[in-house]
Amino acid sequence: MVKICCIGAGYVGGPTMAVIAVKCPSIEVAVVDISVSRIQAWNSDQLPIYEPGLDEVVKKCRGTNLFFSTDVERHVAEADIVFVSVNTPTKTRGLGAGKAADLTYWESAARMIADVSKSDKIVVEKSTVPVKTAEAIERILTHNSKGIKYQILSNPEFLAEGTAIQDLFNPDRVLIGGRETADGKKAVDALKSVYAHWVPEDRILCTNLWSAELSKLAANAFLAQRISSVNAMSALCEATGADVAQVAHAVGTDSRIGPKFLKASVGFGGSCFQKDILNLVYICECNGLAEVAGYWRQVIKVNDYQKSRFVNRVVSSMFNTVAGKKVAILGFAFKKDTGDTRETAAIDVCKGLIGDKAHLSIFDPQVGEAQIQKDLALNKFEWDHPAHLQPAAAGAAKQVSVVRDAYEAAKGAHAVCVMTEWEEFKGLDYGRIYEGMQKPAFVFDGRNVVDVEKLREIGFIVYSIGKPLDPWLKDLPAVA
Ligand code: UDX
Ligand code: ADP
Repeated sequence: MVKICCIGAGYVGGPTMAVIAVKCPSIEVAVVDISVSRIQAWNSDQLPIYEPGLDEVVKKCRGTNLFFSTDVERHVAEADIVFVSVNTPTKTRGLGAGKAADLTYWESAARMIADVSKSDKIVVEKSTVPVKTAEAIERILTHNSKGIKYQILSNPEFLAEGTAIQDLFNPDRVLIGGRETADGKKAVDALKSVYAHWVPEDRILCTNLWSAELSKLAANAFLAQRISSVNAMSALCEATGADVAQVAHAVGTDSRIGPKFLKASVGFGGSCFQKDILNLVYICECNGLAEVAGYWRQVIKVNDYQKSRFVNRVVSSMFNTVAGKKVAILGFAFKKDTGDTRETAAIDVCKGLIGDKAHLSIFDPQVGEAQIQKDLALNKFEWDHPAHLQPAAAGAAKQVSVVRDAYEAAKGAHAVCVMTEWEEFKGLDYGRIYEGMQKPAFVFDGRNVVDVEKLREIGFIVYSIGKPLDPWLKDLPAVA
């Protein structure tokens, strides 16, 4: 029986390994983590991450050929294939600070693999890492090899949260990069045979190591670039009276462009886009490609601009001050159908409003108070460290309360800001919300989910990203 071990039981490691286990009954899969609480949660009825369909998959094979454990060393020692899916934060200090990936956790995982291994192993990069990480890992492993042979593969994960199980069951492609040597090809074939249990062969792409590593960064950069492109257009639409949804539709019907990933929003979030682009920028700079670096950096600049533009809209619409005013924040996750808040636009918007002394009342169907308070207390990039190494969150911010539903959040508020496109926000009784609010009552829709006309009929002043401006907002001085 082939044994697989995955180091890191996070958003990538957990679902990916669960799907491998359910699709390959002949393979024993162990997912290990240094976090005791995370492993306990994976072994309980309340999984540590919210992902549609994940519960059923885990229930089907947990205890049969899928195991979650903190006994990292034993499972690594026993495995034929070791996936590494640990944190890869952006460095906050030293060389490459603010851009380069901090490979501390990766390196310590690699050293541990070298320490405990007693048989040959295939080591698979699963977490996104900068190009040439495999080479660094290879060096650590071979210099500590005690005669054991290692093959390093890059097998980046393309799943998106919220649709992870669907994406894993039916991937557009699986990418496997390896050394172009006889042993390298054998290792690629071994991993290919795992995916071949359920993925058609023509969707399993095999490349060299660097192409696989770079493809992952490139794919995320291209996706993020589309969002920044449409978000840049949203600012122009507001200035000119065009409707960004109509523009995106017209643009997206060109079959060369395609309709997906063209929804204007308050800004992209998630654990990957910003981090991967920063990595890309750093790699370009290291290779003397300043113009290429500048090109990709702009994708992040537009995303930051979109978030601060939103805060400016809120403040300037409300007579240039939100000091002491209650503002309801609907949604905190970085997108719908996930409880994940990593790099969510809501953090920067909330921090911006708190900076202007607003009182926030936040509701998200999947994110609890502890997470929100922690997110608002952490500094940039601090989230991406194993939980026990994160700085303890400061006391709860006085200006922030986290409530249990949208109506409670909006009660007595001057404004409602929609930060996440949860379906339930579309069907709210906005008449009831309006009744309970201060007047004039504002809605700032960062996700284009509300029915603007209907809300204006009720009496709201409505701002919706990239839509023709409310007459109220038109008369205000332009925001930068
Ligand atoms: C992304 C990639 O899609 C995935 O392939 C990769 O493996 C990890 O990074 P994820 O972060 O889960 O996945 O979310 P994604 O669906 O890509 O959305 C990212 C952000 O962009 C979200 O904040 C989302 O709301 C935003 N977005 C997406 C838009 O603002 N507009 C769009 O049209 C699409
Ligand atoms: P991702 O979204 O890439 O899955 P996460 O942050 O959700 O990232 O998960 C990474 C996991 O890796 C965390 O649960 C962390 O505790 C774990 N981890 C980090 N370093 C190690 C290590 N050396 N050994 C085992 N687990 C580790």
